Amino acid sequence: MTDLSALFDPFPVLTTERLILRQMTMADVPAIQVLISDPRVMRYMGKDPTDDIQASVEKVERNQRNFKALTEIRWALTLKADSDSLFLGDVSLHHINTYDSHAELGYALGHDHWGKGLMNEAIQAVLGFGFGPLGMHRIEANIDIENARSKAVLERNGFQYDGSLRERFRVVNGYADEHYFSILQREWQARQSASG
Ligand SMILES: CC(C)(COP(=O)(O)OP(=O)(O)OC[C@H]1O[C@@H](n2cnc3c(N)ncnc32)[C@H](O)[C@@H]1OP(=O)(O)O)[C@@H](O)C(=O)NCCC(=O)NCCS
Repeated sequence: MTDLSALFDPFPVLTTERLILRQMTMADVPAIQVLISDPRVMRYMGKDPTDDIQASVEKVERNQRNFKALTEIRWALTLKADSDSLFLGDVSLHHINTYDSHAELGYALGHDHWGKGLMNEAIQAVLGFGFGPLGMHRIEANIDIENARSKAVLERNGFQYDGSLRERFRVVNGYADEHYFSILQREWQARQSASG
């Protein structure tokens, strides 16, 4: 099993062509508040939009707790070109299970930044970390199937549909089926080899 404590300290900053994926901090709270108060972003996230600043503070605190417990890494997406390193959104590997070697992928991006391929770029880096140093066998994501953008980003990254669990996910007006997608380490490796 992978020794996570060495991988988590220092925080594993990732870089891509356009992005730096860094640790989330309390300085990100105002930008997180913009993200989680936007109904377009929160529509399929299972939480109502809120502009209560405490919810953003708790998001950072929860992440810090889970990071310390070695069960979650949540990266803030920032543009390399932005010297202020402003938080645009986040991507996570959470519910990290080193016995069965699987983790769950989560992500959300500010609406102004949709349609530029930024989350796609971030997810490629996170999969590289998850299947590389973190040694995961399987990375999964579960979505509301109506969330077409989320489904598209998963499929672009080679995730396959596993199946669904009925009404497991709270949405604004009730419950929705949770649809599971996953990619296995060997599938990710094959895609890496194919892309040269
Ligand atoms: C899910 C979410 C992150 C997807 O964002 P996105 O910007 O659509 O995703 P990508 O980064 O893959 O970008 C793909 C888009 O960028 C375009 N694009 C532009 N330049 C690109 C590039 N260099 N590379 C790839 N795509 C590029 C693609 O054509 C595509 O646009 P289209 O869908 O309009 O055709 C975003 O919709 C979101 O944050 N939603 C709210 C939170 C949420 O639902 N999270 C998931 C919960 S399970």
